[in-house]
Amino acid sequence: MFKKISLLVILTASLTACSNDYTPDKAATAKKIYTEACASCHAGEPADPSKYWTMNKKNANKAYVVNKVKSGGLRMPGFKNINTADLEKISEFVLKHSIIK
Ligand code: HEC
Repeated sequence: MFKKISLLVILTASLTACSNDYTPDKAATAKKIYTEACASCHAGEPADPSKYWTMNKKNANKAYVVNKVKSGGLRMPGFKNINTADLEKISEFVLKHSIIK
């Protein structure tokens, strides 16, 4: 019984830990948001250092990127404090700086 409960606690903690409190400044540019919130994990791709992501063609659209940044992934945190206007900006930035395959 105790084991089951502690497993549940660990599971819940690791799931809820997957979000980031980063809040962009009012006038933040996409580049600033990238530098402050994304660059620690998404740096230049080996094949082209001016690109920070490699995207599958089917995911290379704004709706996908907006959702990804908002909700995160298995290992990527979700950014719940990036507002809609900034999500638009950062998504354009992602698509501009992606190797699309
Ligand atoms: C703590 C590290 C980390 C941070 C910070 C982070 N990411 Fe990620 N991101 C990942 C990882 C790991 C993946 C791939 C696995 C996954 O989805 O969890 C990913 C995946 C993505 C993808 C999907 C790529 C694809 O091909 O599907 C996009 C787009 C993305 N990140 C954008 C961003 C943006 C924009 C920011 C900043 C606002 C950001 N990430 C911050 C770790 C991070």
